[in-house]
Amino acid sequence: MRELKNVTCIEDLRKLARRKVPRAFFDYAEAGSYSEETLRANRRDFEAIKLRQRVLVDVSARDTATTILGGKVSLPIALGPVAMTGLEYGDGEILACRAAHSAGVPFTMSTLSICSIEDVAAAVKKPFWFQLYVMKDRGFVRSLVERAIAAKCSALVLTVDLQVLGQRHIDIKNGLSVPPSLKIKNLINMASKPRWVASVLLGKRWTFGNLHGYVKGMEDVRSLAQWVGSQFDPTLNWKDVEWIKSIWPGKLVIKGILDLEDAKLAAKTGADALVVSNHGGRQLDGAPSSISALAKIADVVGSEIEVMFDGGVRSGQDVLRALALGARGCLIGRAYIFGLGAAGEAGVKKAIEIIRKELDVSMALTGLKSVQEIGRHTLAQ
Ligand code: GLV
Repeated sequence: MRELKNVTCIEDLRKLARRKVPRAFFDYAEAGSYSEETLRANRRDFEAIKLRQRVLVDVSARDTATTILGGKVSLPIALGPVAMTGLEYGDGEILACRAAHSAGVPFTMSTLSICSIEDVAAAVKKPFWFQLYVMKDRGFVRSLVERAIAAKCSALVLTVDLQVLGQRHIDIKNGLSVPPSLKIKNLINMASKPRWVASVLLGKRWTFGNLHGYVKGMEDVRSLAQWVGSQFDPTLNWKDVEWIKSIWPGKLVIKGILDLEDAKLAAKTGADALVVSNHGGRQLDGAPSSISALAKIADVVGSEIEVMFDGGVRSGQDVLRALALGARGCLIGRAYIFGLGAAGEAGVKKAIEIIRKELDVSMALTGLKSVQEIGRHTLAQ
């Protein structure tokens, strides 16, 4: 694709996506909650971690492959769940899943996706992971889990840090809504994004594919925040994790752990993995950065439960840093969403390839030949 020719880093994809995607949806993906302190801390604390340059090691044969949740991956990342991916680019979940699978990494579909579980399952050849939000209607939650089983999803990623929604000011200011609201202001903005109009507005999927027709009150929902407020269950607690575990037979991942005590409780549930995460700085503003919480959690519970990581990963160097601090793999969110907004499936592939090359070169320059060799010793003191 011509427009990807000069793209050399995730930041280039971000700039391209900003031009191509209507403002409300670009901003939705990019924003953090409230003053965005935690959003900024996620990046700032990553950049403060220095890698240890090593020389004169034969690094001619290098391999970025590893396993996550027992499955082989070509590099230690998975595409994390992002709501409304299909409004960044038409059929976005299908395209991102295809790009992930062709690159040899897992894709996680969000409960709040635009394509439905069945749409994606019908369009891809390999299983994907499904992220679950627990809603008040437990019958509906059970039916979602059953649909994920029927679609042969290979892992369930239970998000536990969004019982209530952290406010993102920009979404309110933009009047973010699903389906997209066709007010004059938005139409003017969309008119300058012809490819988005062709792929989303003229496409057939505009609303939450997993919920539409299943959930009462979906039809007249105005804003995401309003809907989340009315449907998400603030009573969610550790007992519910047991219940989910009893109805889901496959691998279970608990996403949204930032505190050591919670990590210990997560390990006790018998889940297969946890994700150290502050929801990309989108929930509790003022919380520590995700990367600053990782090492302690990995040290204490890493032998009992697989520890994954997300929050601010924008490069292969970041993946290397997170693995050095004990993560088994990283979920990437915005990094691939920018690729998707920039150029659809080719853009997601580009995002993954950028991270792959950066990780490969950074491993070489830190004197490492395989992911298994990465450790605390990979960091400069
Ligand atoms: C939902 O997961 C969001 O962060 O908006």
